[in-house]
Amino acid sequence: MTRHDDTQTSETLALDLTPPPGGQVLHATDRATIIWGDARDPQVIAQVPDGYGLLCTDPPYGMRFNSGRSDTFTEIAGDDGSVDWPGVLAEWVGPEGTTTRGLADKRHVYVFGYRPDQLAGPLRLGGHAELIWDKVGIGMGDLTVAWGPQHEPITFGVHVKRRSDRAAHGGRLAARLRRGSILRYQRPNGASATRHSNEKPAPLMADLIESSTVRGDLVVDPCAGSGSTGVAAVLEGRRCFLVEVDRQHAELAVQRVQAAERIADLMSTT
Ligand SMILES: C[S@@+](CC[C@H](N)C(=O)[O-])C[C@H]1O[C@@H](n2cnc3c(N)ncnc32)[C@H](O)[C@@H]1O
Repeated sequence: MTRHDDTQTSETLALDLTPPPGGQVLHATDRATIIWGDARDPQVIAQVPDGYGLLCTDPPYGMRFNSGRSDTFTEIAGDDGSVDWPGVLAEWVGPEGTTTRGLADKRHVYVFGYRPDQLAGPLRLGGHAELIWDKVGIGMGDLTVAWGPQHEPITFGVHVKRRSDRAAHGGRLAARLRRGSILRYQRPNGASATRHSNEKPAPLMADLIESSTVRGDLVVDPCAGSGSTGVAAVLEGRRCFLVEVDRQHAELAVQRVQAAERIADLMSTT
């Protein structure tokens, strides 16, 4: 960080805004790793353990976020459409031609805000489905349009590493339980709505995680925001590996995951 002296302006007094190459580990325990870093940085991607159990993430949507509450939230980093998020996530599951890197073969992905046709190729998905998160109340989005958005798409898919397995329809038997594709969970409101403009409900994340992993599995979220994926993973007895580029969000994720760890510790000793 910059050294301060009396001649500096308020600008130079701000915290560093860009994470260092390779990121900075803010939190590391048996249950959780949280890195302040850029999900596009190969040195950050290299830190995710190979053969992990679930990719569950909510990247920027490539449309300028408009909360209608400019006093509360800043713009979401990477939300200007300039980043090829399907291409970035391909590196997180392990790119074409690799068989041991990233997500384990035939394990699942959930990606908010993107549809299966955008992700099936880059993420090497066998069976896949579009899920809908019904937010119960009207959410954020383009405030100039009469119909207020109350839902968000989530791509579910089975990551199948070998092209030949995908051609043979490998990974079609994906879900442990066959369920409807609409998931109804109230979007965060009240005090929690002021933490992060795109915070997902922890019970929704727990539902996804519980459906696709077993206890002890590692759940990865390279765009962690306020850490909802990590909170749900820890409370469900899984482990998490989170990356977030915005320092304030990353620190919020640490606080929330630490609180979840305290609960998980209590539950495991009773
Ligand atoms: C839609 S929000 C995720 C919200 C999260 N699901 C929650 O419940 O709080 C997307 C997050 O991705 C982060 N992000 C944007 N670009 C990134 C990058 N290059 N690397 C890592 N995180 C990034 C943003 O700062 C933002 O917090």
